[in-house]
Amino acid sequence: MEKKAERYIREHSTPEDKVLAELYRQTHLYVVNPNMASGHIQGKLLEMISHMIQPSYVLEIGTYTGYSAICLARGLKPGGKMHTIESNDELHEMSARYIDMAGVTDRVIQHTGRAQEIIPSLTCTFDLVFIDGDKREYCEYYDIVIDRVRKGGFIIADNVLWGGKIETEEAMKDPQGYGIVMFNEKIRNDDRVEKLILPLRDGLAIIRRK
Ligand SMILES: C[S@@+](CC[C@H](N)C(=O)[O-])C[C@H]1O[C@@H](n2cnc3c(N)ncnc32)[C@H](O)[C@@H]1O
Repeated sequence: MEKKAERYIREHSTPEDKVLAELYRQTHLYVVNPNMASGHIQGKLLEMISHMIQPSYVLEIGTYTGYSAICLARGLKPGGKMHTIESNDELHEMSARYIDMAGVTDRVIQHTGRAQEIIPSLTCTFDLVFIDGDKREYCEYYDIVIDRVRKGGFIIADNVLWGGKIETEEAMKDPQGYGIVMFNEKIRNDDRVEKLILPLRDGLAIIRRK
């Protein structure tokens, strides 16, 4: 997004709260690939969507340092639960600490391991799923979760415009880019769902199960 427009959007949106601002800063200081964290504007959108849906059950693939998990957990219905899965066990301590500082530990169930292995062991039907793991595996995640989303429920997938390079040869040659291209085609051809790509940050696909 154009820098000027981005600044304007920031200045006219609810400011990032202290816990998320600190988490974002610490992620940039101490964690590899800090640009993977959702950050202020995308985080606020996820929080708003969660508040709109008021889900009882949320699933996230790719906790990383916990930014999006905190945002999504804030919109849960009272008594609702969020399952968030992260394959890199080195991130657990940090994400758990910030989830605690944000006051949502009672609602967030953290899992360490590969989503493909953990999701089949979860028994709930999800109102909202956030796909934000390895781009090469998006199609796999989708196939595993689609029947676990209630009718009328939503899947949101991050990075679907792949840095604005989605229609380039570069995307086809890069395994991550190719994973996203294949995912977008799969969603386009799936009549079980309605879909919309929002050009926010790296592109968010909003997918609704009919
Ligand atoms: C883009 S980051 C997630 C960012 C986070 N959702 C946020 O917005 O702050 C992707 C994360 O997915 C994790 N990951 C990759 N493959 C995975 C898998 N198969 N199952 C669970 N986590 C996975 C990575 O280790 C990485 O931490």
